[in-house]
Parts: sequence; C-alpha cells; structure tokens
Amino acid sequence: MAIRQIITAPDPFLKRVSKPVAEVTDDLRVLMDDLLETMYDAPGIGLAAIQVGEPVEAIVLDIARDEDDPYPRYFVNPEITWASEELATYEEGCLSVPEFTADVDRPAEIKLNFLDYDGNKQEIHADGLLATCIQHEIDHLRGILFIDHLSAVKRNIIVRKLVKASKQAAE
Ligand code: NI
Repeated sequence: MAIRQIITAPDPFLKRVSKPVAEVTDDLRVLMDDLLETMYDAPGIGLAAIQVGEPVEAIVLDIARDEDDPYPRYFVNPEITWASEELATYEEGCLSVPEFTADVDRPAEIKLNFLDYDGNKQEIHADGLLATCIQHEIDHLRGILFIDHLSAVKRNIIVRKLVKASKQAAE
C-alpha cells in the first residue's frame, strides 16, 4: 500500500467524469488499498479515485467513530437506484477542499447498487451519515465537489481562498 497525493480544488482534473470499470482486478484492488491508506493518513472518512488522479469509478469510505474498530467500505461502479424525497443536512468537508466545511442538503436515504472489493454485486439501503458520504463521493465521480452545491458567492469565496493558500504554499 502507498500514500498518494490528494489533488485539491480548483485543479480542473477534479471536474473530470470518472469511467466505470469493466471488472474488479488486482490492479484496482491495489488502487483501493492505496485510497484507503491515503484516506486514513489524511485523515478523512471518504475518498474517490479521481482525487488521487485516477478517473475510475472507485470509492472508499470508513465512517466508524474513533473509538470503534475500523470499518473500511469499498464501492465500485456505484449507482443510486432510489433516493428519498426527504432531505438531510450535514456539515460536509472534503480532502480536496482543505480547511473548509459547509452545510449541504441531500436525500436522507438512498438505495445503491455497486461491486464490492471482491467484484461481487451488492445492493444496500443507506441512511444517515453513510447516505450523505456515499452521495458526496459519487459526486466526485461526476466531477462535482460539495462546494458546487453552495451558492456561487459562497463557492467563489472558498475557491479564492484556496488559490491564495496554494500560492502561499508554493512560495
Ligand atoms: Ni470529497
């Protein structure tokens, strides 16, 4: 396993649309292992392959609390098949948008089809933080960041600060 560099906004690479994978290969499992290690190191609770420069439909998540055992989850080719009309609001952050958080409304419950780490088809019904995290990560596969759900004014303020911070870091 290896820790990979996380791409941060406003890098245009993050706007790319990820491609579904034909099958879960050993190479993809190596990528997912790297994603998980990179996510734990950051630390974060979710990471999509596009965030480390691989535009394929693969996501890792672990929303276990600090006092609980790690519970890594892997989602390949995730597809939301149903979403509740009821919305839930969470304060979201993103490893590609460091230092910023904002409230985002999303469907409170979803049903999801995906392939697991072993390439088996799975279907789950998710709610709570899990539903929000899965939707946040699936957005990454479509080139969407959580700040894209905010008003243009709020988004521009955050993007300007990110650009300024990255210029200062480069100096
Ligand atoms: Ni994110």
